Amino acid sequence: MIGRNAFRFILLFALFIAAALLLRSCILNSENPGKESDIGYKYLIGVSQPNLSEPWRVAMNEEIEQEVGKHGDMRVIFTDAAQSSDQQAQDVKKLMGYGIDLLIISLDDPVALTPTVSSVYKDIPVIVLGRGVAGYDYTLYVGTDDEMIGRKAGEFARETLGASGGKIVEMQGLAGSPTVEERSKGFRDAIQDSKLSIVQTMNGDWQRDLSEDLLVSWLKENHDVDLIFAQNEAMALGAYRALQKLNMNHVNIIGIDGVNSENGSLQLVSKNKLTGTFTSPPGGKEAIQYAIDILNKEKGIPKKIILRSQKITDPSTLNSESSNSPSPAPSPDQTDAPLVVGFAQVGMESGWRIAHTKSVIDAAKEAGVELLYENAEQSQDKQIELIRRFIKQKVDVIAFSPKTETGWDEVLKEAKEAGIPVILSDREVNVSDDTLWTAYIGSDFREEGRRAARWLIQQAEEGESYPIVELQGTQHSAPAVGRKQGFREVIQTDKTFMMLESLQGDFTKKQGKELMAAALERQGSKIKVVYSHNDDMALGAIEAIEDFGLRPGKDIIIISVDATKSALKALSIGKLSFAVECNALLGPQLMKAVKDLSEGKELPMKIITSEGVFTQESAKTALASREY
Ligand code: AHR
Repeated sequence: MIGRNAFRFILLFALFIAAALLLRSCILNSENPGKESDIGYKYLIGVSQPNLSEPWRVAMNEEIEQEVGKHGDMRVIFTDAAQSSDQQAQDVKKLMGYGIDLLIISLDDPVALTPTVSSVYKDIPVIVLGRGVAGYDYTLYVGTDDEMIGRKAGEFARETLGASGGKIVEMQGLAGSPTVEERSKGFRDAIQDSKLSIVQTMNGDWQRDLSEDLLVSWLKENHDVDLIFAQNEAMALGAYRALQKLNMNHVNIIGIDGVNSENGSLQLVSKNKLTGTFTSPPGGKEAIQYAIDILNKEKGIPKKIILRSQKITDPSTLNSESSNSPSPAPSPDQTDAPLVVGFAQVGMESGWRIAHTKSVIDAAKEAGVELLYENAEQSQDKQIELIRRFIKQKVDVIAFSPKTETGWDEVLKEAKEAGIPVILSDREVNVSDDTLWTAYIGSDFREEGRRAARWLIQQAEEGESYPIVELQGTQHSAPAVGRKQGFREVIQTDKTFMMLESLQGDFTKKQGKELMAAALERQGSKIKVVYSHNDDMALGAIEAIEDFGLRPGKDIIIISVDATKSALKALSIGKLSFAVECNALLGPQLMKAVKDLSEGKELPMKIITSEGVFTQESAKTALASREY
């Protein structure tokens, strides 16, 4: 029995707590003017745009608004910085003052705005939309593969001007933006070794009028031009107006964006004002869909969502031609039969691969998906044979981890003809037509290589030089190609680092040990760094270094990629120096993609997983909870 006084005390205490909660909610509501609980919404989203003069940005906001409209518990506030970075930073501050739960920001000037984004990211989730920031201080990036779009535009320029080639003016967006650099790199790579040449590059800052003015004054003096490559559609329209003024209608214009509005490039192509354009989906819809998952604290949020771009030379074919889009979703089954996924694993070469396989099998079970699992034992021929078997079995979806990047065109065409979507789990392919596959789920291998190199540069001591031995993964495989490329991109300009030997491995511990032992025989203690494309080879190299009488992690810096549990153990005892994470737990995302497909949802072209890095210190703490 509770005594009378005790009862009174409990009652008073309860009243006090209730009053305190009420007071807190009043304070919160007065601080956050738009967020009164009585108007019945849960989430407030802030959207910051650098300008709204680009039709592409208007389309982005429209998509956001439409998608938000589907959710009664969500509100959105838009800001427009009218092309001023200072104004955009102020806008973000204001949005934070309104108590937004999540910021969606699209940028023109990443240099000026990265610090603003980083500081917001400390407090709330941030989705960067369309054009990116430097570094990793954001929750999710939604955009396109700009290098790929640039490359496609370059290929189209080659096609348009033919074997005799021609002269090109490149109209770039705002200087310093990664989008500008990537689109330009892709374009230049594609026109290399051809008779096409870029005779002039200008910065139209993504704006129509500036581009028009710049072009008019330049073209007055330079008539010998065959094509203008404009990095967005506002600038493409500027180019068209400039050419009209100067009576130079014969000059081709290639744009990017593909917005379907009055002055959007779809309309411009259909009115023959542009020769062609490449869609750059604004991503507003996807940003809101992921915002909901982020705010609901769903697991497995990716770091990047890359949307598919299409070439448009005839807008009436948009989305309708099967050649323009990947295989459609498996048709919904009227029975209760589970979805069937054929999964052709590449092999069992590494600890990472074992974890990846387990993740796929477990996730299929959990999702109620029937998984036909097969192991290709490192043979591309066998992997092709398995895919053909899945086609015959009429599975709903085929998933596989391609051994190498090339050699898949034929079998993927067969899958597409059979109407079976293909999901690449963990490794990408390099085929002539990217609509032969539906989605890629995995890592950004090039970025992993860059991360390894950036850490190495930070460790370098003044006056020292660092000869490197690289242990490469399976020849022509996406991780080996990407990790090699990314690492070189970062160290190539720094004379402190030199590649002593780059050896062809196969991701196994055995080969890592053999290659390292042979390298030590040839180079001895000249070797200062080992950069291994995966943990297993690094662990093999550690044994070889010890056998040679040197101390791994002390006499030789060892950097590895994967960050499996065994690598974290080696890090924690100082035998490994640094590990870049490659996320093996891709099963749940694969099954989510399969389910999304079966519900008729369109998948993004690439879903890039979120990953980190481990030092000797951080590995000690991470080890206890590491799953693989
Ligand atoms: O494709 C991912 C790579 O394949 C892993 O990094 C490596 O360990 C594996 O075998």
